[in-house]
Amino acid sequence: MPRGEKRWSNPLRDPRDKRLPRIAGPCSLIIFGVTGDLARKKLMPAIYDLANRGLLPPSFALVGFGRRDWDDEDFAKVVHDAVREHARTGFREEVWERLTEGFRFVQGSFDDDASFDRLKDTLATLDKERGTDGNHAFYLSIPPNAFPTVCEQLHRSGLATSSNRDNWRRVVIEKPFGHDLESAKQLNAIVNSVFPESSVFRIDHYLGKETVQNILALRFANQLFDPLWSSHYVDHVQITMAEDIGLGGRAGYYDGIGAARDVIQNHLLQLMALVAMEEPISFEPKQLQAEKIKVLSATSNILPIAENTARGQYGPGWQGSEKVPGLKDEEGFAKDSTTETYAAIALEVDSRRWAGVPFYLRTGKRLGRRVTEIALVFKRAPHLPFDKTMTEELSQNALVIRVQPDEGITLRFGSKVPASSMEVRDVNMDFSYGTAFTEASPEAYERLILDVLLGEPSLFPVNEEVELSWEILDPVLDCWAQEGSPDSYESGTWGPASADEMLERTGRSWRRP
Ligand code: BG6
Repeated sequence: MPRGEKRWSNPLRDPRDKRLPRIAGPCSLIIFGVTGDLARKKLMPAIYDLANRGLLPPSFALVGFGRRDWDDEDFAKVVHDAVREHARTGFREEVWERLTEGFRFVQGSFDDDASFDRLKDTLATLDKERGTDGNHAFYLSIPPNAFPTVCEQLHRSGLATSSNRDNWRRVVIEKPFGHDLESAKQLNAIVNSVFPESSVFRIDHYLGKETVQNILALRFANQLFDPLWSSHYVDHVQITMAEDIGLGGRAGYYDGIGAARDVIQNHLLQLMALVAMEEPISFEPKQLQAEKIKVLSATSNILPIAENTARGQYGPGWQGSEKVPGLKDEEGFAKDSTTETYAAIALEVDSRRWAGVPFYLRTGKRLGRRVTEIALVFKRAPHLPFDKTMTEELSQNALVIRVQPDEGITLRFGSKVPASSMEVRDVNMDFSYGTAFTEASPEAYERLILDVLLGEPSLFPVNEEVELSWEILDPVLDCWAQEGSPDSYESGTWGPASADEMLERTGRSWRRP
């Protein structure tokens, strides 16, 4: 097909409109780990959604690499089912037909040289016949112990290096980026020995969420919040990522990893960095990264660690009307598993802006409900000129960034109760994406895959951020390793009692989102 032909272009879209995302240039995406959950539930649907939005080039190719005895059509069928089940946008036959023209499947295994030689031939044919122009992104949606082999194969076969300066090779890696600082350094060394850091895209899908990117807009496009955004007014910050799902079926990945490594090391520390960082000079990737790196470098655990952290493991309980088993009874978990499914830590940021303000980060499985939020809880007014009985139901002001679900922002403040003499009670002022915008939010993976294809690295944590995050977490993990088993909590509740005690010791309490 002739290159440059705008076969997928959306007639409603003006390509010069800077407010809209750019369309990727000629390229292919090669997925390692096509049979995994992530590929099926997130990557394949995101690719279709991008095509449907007119953001992929006409020459785009999707290549699956795996052990299954599939041909291109079998692969297309798998993608089709995934798209039908999980895509965000409606199914359009003409988009699908054009997309599948670029589907290829290469059957092979990671340790087999011949398989990678076949992959190389496939990509060369795509370059020639479809016009992918030597631009290829390799998506490693595979267990980390397979990274070194695949990187080595990409290097050996010459696939990791572009043939000239006009085309590119990129690698996309999914977490976990190691299990501690040491292993992260080793992993980074392996990846960087094959791909320069500028070609490495580490996925932290939280950064692809609209509500997370909006933290930058909220902070830096407004005059209203910045004066309040410091230890002068903020008492503490709570970052909560709660899930109601359990870990049935995920033992292979999760057992021995636990909640802190699974999401605090990456998602929650990235959220904290965005909340605590200074204004970047611009939104150029380097500037943004520099500010996040400064915050992470200035962050440390509040001591003593044992008293300022909590961890738990869910026991049996009720999730709504469903009776659910405890972790130790989930398939694949050992009866004596010490893997934590709940983790809470307390951090401080040693900077003029944040000195003395604790950042509490918590996450857990099988909690009361699925919700992710960032709450800045403000100090109490220095003086309340009311009768004490009038303010019994008044709590601290709070600005809550509702990351998901029910995306938006809430401002909580006190207001006079109508018809009372002067009773003051908490009320909420709400901004909600659903009512404020007609535009729907893309899935995080749509944004991130498009950014990989565009070579736009702003939303991808660099090596240094990953290592700094492990530096923060390692002492906590060491402390827990010496303590034995995590506390137990009933499924459907808000975590172990030790987490409540951790905050109570400071006169604070967790929000009930
Ligand atoms: C992943 C974790 O990174 O994020 C999972 O490995 C977790 O354990 C998932 O369930 C949650 O993502 P989201 O976007 O549904 O909050």
